[in-house]
Amino acid sequence: MPANKKLLILPGDGIGPEIMHEVRRVIDWMDRRRAVSFDLTEDLVGGAAIDASGTPISDRAMRRALEADAVLFGAVGGPKWSSFGFDLRPELAILRLRSELGLFANLRPAIVYDPLVEASTLKAEIVRGLDLMIVRESTGGIYFGSPRGIETLPDGTKRGINTEVYTTPEIERVARVAFELARQRQRKVCSVEKSNVMESGLLWRQTVQALRDAEYADIALSHMYADNCAMQLVRNPRQFDVIVTGNLFGDLLSDLASMLTGSLGMLPSATLGLPDASGRRHALYEPIHGSAPDIAGKGVANPLAQILSFAMLLRYSFAMEEDARLIERACVNVLSNGLRTPDIMAPGCAKVGTQVMGEAVVRELDKLAA
Ligand code: IPM
Ligand code: MG
Repeated sequence: MPANKKLLILPGDGIGPEIMHEVRRVIDWMDRRRAVSFDLTEDLVGGAAIDASGTPISDRAMRRALEADAVLFGAVGGPKWSSFGFDLRPELAILRLRSELGLFANLRPAIVYDPLVEASTLKAEIVRGLDLMIVRESTGGIYFGSPRGIETLPDGTKRGINTEVYTTPEIERVARVAFELARQRQRKVCSVEKSNVMESGLLWRQTVQALRDAEYADIALSHMYADNCAMQLVRNPRQFDVIVTGNLFGDLLSDLASMLTGSLGMLPSATLGLPDASGRRHALYEPIHGSAPDIAGKGVANPLAQILSFAMLLRYSFAMEEDARLIERACVNVLSNGLRTPDIMAPGCAKVGTQVMGEAVVRELDKLAA
């Protein structure tokens, strides 16, 4: 018998715990019906961890994350902690996890599910069938570069400093992830930077092109400036297959791309580290939406992005493609059946809460597996 798969569950703040509860149903279902067992450990993160132990993520939770085969993350933050100091923001938990687990490749799909095509603020004919993947570098760039800080100048005024910095190995390893993904998709990669104004962007462009020429001649590679990419994403998003970009541009462009789908509550993400010699890699999975404090505790949050994050976990951490697809199909079927949480409510559909949505996914899984 292979060892059970070790999962660390970090529900976090706001709607995190409620939607994670619905994922538990899906995990239980997998246990029962597919004979795959998971060892689950749960810990606090974000504001909940600040309240309990004065830090956004404890060393115990970090150790557990290092030991786990995969981390399933909810969301962090809320008004209660927004006035805390810069060093005590709930968001630091996710930055520490990315950095200490070496989670450099942040995969952010933007998919328009057919039953939700009208939810987009863009015209249906622009977004129908959209399926793009943003690969965002997530342990480097201006988020982590030094020097950084706020200093006081001799005349008493201040200066805030951050540094955009990328090395060739950092660019190559994330570009490699993008090229490999493209091979499973439409074999198209668009690399995004600002090489017209930034040296780090010029090195980015040259490095991605050199890697493509040396190892990925089967991939069609294009380059785009980040500002143009923002415009193209709104003008004609289906021109893209895989986009690869740095940390800050990826942060902005992935929010933009997610809104093309009109349903933030639907989008999962994965953040992957480098595989070791045995193929094992650290990985974290989380919905793209935040902790939504305004609706927390009301039982109305959409659990689908968290459930779809679990599907990504099965795909990328355990190569369980068939099970990942099963869960994805169950989620789409629930939507086709007309069930909607308030965030994606449409005329003629039935408005349901978090729990009913979670139960409906499990019922669909039963049907699909029958
Ligand atoms: C994201 C978030 C984070 C980021 C914040 C919470 C630190 O916006 O995952 O996109 O900027 O990376
Ligand atoms: Mg962001």
